[in-house]
Amino acid sequence: MNSFDFEFQIKTKIKFGRNKIKEINSTLHSLAAKNLMVVVDKGIIEAGIFSGIEKELQNSNINYVVYDKVKPDPTIEIVNSAVECVLKNDIDSLLAVGGGSPIDTAKAVVASFFDNDLKKEISVDRLKLLTIPTTAGSGSEVTTAVVITDQENKKKFALIDENLAPDVAIVDPELTKSLPTFLTAVGGMDALSHNIEAYVSQDAVLPFEMIATKGIEMVKDYLRPAVGNGNNMAAREGMALASLFGGIALTNCGLGLVHAISHPLGGNFEIPHGLSNTILLPYVMKFNLIANPKKYANIARIFGIDINQYTEMEAAYKAVEEVQKLIKDIGITESLRDFKVDKFEYIAEHALEERAMLKSNPRPVTKANIIDILKDAY
Ligand SMILES: [Fe+2]
Repeated sequence: MNSFDFEFQIKTKIKFGRNKIKEINSTLHSLAAKNLMVVVDKGIIEAGIFSGIEKELQNSNINYVVYDKVKPDPTIEIVNSAVECVLKNDIDSLLAVGGGSPIDTAKAVVASFFDNDLKKEISVDRLKLLTIPTTAGSGSEVTTAVVITDQENKKKFALIDENLAPDVAIVDPELTKSLPTFLTAVGGMDALSHNIEAYVSQDAVLPFEMIATKGIEMVKDYLRPAVGNGNNMAAREGMALASLFGGIALTNCGLGLVHAISHPLGGNFEIPHGLSNTILLPYVMKFNLIANPKKYANIARIFGIDINQYTEMEAAYKAVEEVQKLIKDIGITESLRDFKVDKFEYIAEHALEERAMLKSNPRPVTKANIIDILKDAY
């Protein structure tokens, strides 16, 4: 694809900065929210993160109900029960607070009302959606995609629709301060995989290559210190930006083989999304780099390597080494062996069904290639 032939629009209004949650009420008013459903998980409430937000809501004249049954990796059943809550309370707007799961649940609720029969049951044309991420990684606060788990068939499936773009995202890095070390680490690696997959994508376009490369740089600069000291606000701020940039970049450039394999892996072996991406990323990079060594060499340069002393292919391999060093430094030691991953053929067949991601992946992929990557990552 010619990088200079494109169109783009970022639909979500982004409000970024420390203590931005103070703007929650004015934002909800600008969305004309009257009956609000807050989508949140119990962990966010127990960690005390929600109390500050609720205090703001109590000072508004907006009616709200709290839907807190969200579980990690939202299932069809959870989404249906949230839809019932919308219908019961005549909801016109959603506020999703949390990591990928509450935000994905809220988006799936919005998508449920694209169905004409269900749409008649609410008073607005489309439910408004405000997202407030409390983790740094998924980028879900701005993406037009939602990943839902079909427990019965042990599958994850993605819905992609530009009407799923949240209306506003309030990204306040202060909210990520209490995020535990492990979630900081794997979330950060999810953000890195978004930025790398978007950057090397066959559908990458210049404005978002710039955003994605900045996202990679942010992870390089800030993931180690964020893992090392969660109170380091500069690091938290850098990782919140890396996550946001990853979300913007992937929405406009697509993803690749890491996510294509990660979905069936997560659905079958209950490996958290960020962790399965972490495990796969270096091996997928190694496989892909021959298709675009220049971009992988540039990733090495972003990681601080003086690439002039190497050939382009040597420099491209350095990018893989730098990502492996990062994974080691942030304390992630797991491999697929730790999750007793088997059924490589089955995983590969399901990964091949992720056609959009494979189309944007820099290198064409066969079932045998995916099995080799799974063996490498075992
Ligand atoms: Fe991801």
